[in-house]
Amino acid sequence: MSTKNLWFLMLAVTYLLSNVASEAFGLSRVRRNDKQLNVLHFSQGRMNAKDPTSLRHERPAFCRDLDCPEFTVVKNETGYELREYMPTHWVSSNVAGLSYDTAVYQAFMRLFGYISGENEKKEKITMTAPVITRVIPGQGPACENNFTESFFISPQVDPPSPSNPKVFLSSLPKMLVYVRSFPGFATESDWLAQARELAAALGPNATYIKDYFYTAGYDSPFQIFNRHNEIWFIAQ
Ligand SMILES: *[C@@H]1O[C@H](CO)[C@@H](O)[C@H](O)[C@H]1NC(C)=O
Ligand SMILES: *[C@@H]1O[C@H](CO)[C@@H](O)[C@H](O)[C@H]1NC(C)=O
Ligand SMILES: *[C@@H]1O[C@H](CO)[C@@H](O)[C@H](O)[C@H]1NC(C)=O
Repeated sequence: MSTKNLWFLMLAVTYLLSNVASEAFGLSRVRRNDKQLNVLHFSQGRMNAKDPTSLRHERPAFCRDLDCPEFTVVKNETGYELREYMPTHWVSSNVAGLSYDTAVYQAFMRLFGYISGENEKKEKITMTAPVITRVIPGQGPACENNFTESFFISPQVDPPSPSNPKVFLSSLPKMLVYVRSFPGFATESDWLAQARELAAALGPNATYIKDYFYTAGYDSPFQIFNRHNEIWFIAQ
């Protein structure tokens, strides 16, 4: 079996186990039902049909049932959109390496450990979307890249400190992000090709951070159809 297939298999198994465990034992600590707190504005969303009096907006369809960060679409152009994100909190882990897939798998397992209870309160935390990875490319052909993978922390959750010293809590400020979306099971070469497409769509005059980019994945390996992936460039 290839490394990549093994990676998907491990993800699938861990994802399934986590869902079974949280449903069977009610281990989730997310305080979901406080409507006053749960004011999520997504410009792409519709009003929540089940509760028309609530201010709550449905999350974008590509977040499915998972909590994901709040944003508004500032600009919708051919090949990309410009989003404004509110400040967000994340749990993160760094891996240096050559291969995206290997690094992302290593970091994923640490972060998955954190949400499965490897934290000071031994609490289980519900999965969110997206899983983002900041990629700082190495300075030459055989130089290690610096990957920082992060899971979104829902505003409903007060995140406990991680037990694993390689896992840390982080945050992103309010920010403008150039986003290019694409479907399918993304491979390392797909991410790179889409990042080049985004740079081409933005042209030479757009101002954004060029030292790194983010990949954002929204789906479990079980999601076969309508998979959603994004490349993010941080606007300056
Ligand atoms: C952006 O434009 C595309 C087509 O040009 C449309 O399909 C999509 O719904 C638009 N997105 C938003 C957020 O308006
Ligand atoms: C990766 O980047 C982070 C943040 O910039 C830095 O703290 C860390 O030392 C880097 N790791 C490596 C291996 O370069
Ligand atoms: C970029 O900016 C320069 C200088 O303002 C302008 O001459 C050029 O046409 C712009 N290029 C694009 C692709 O907008």
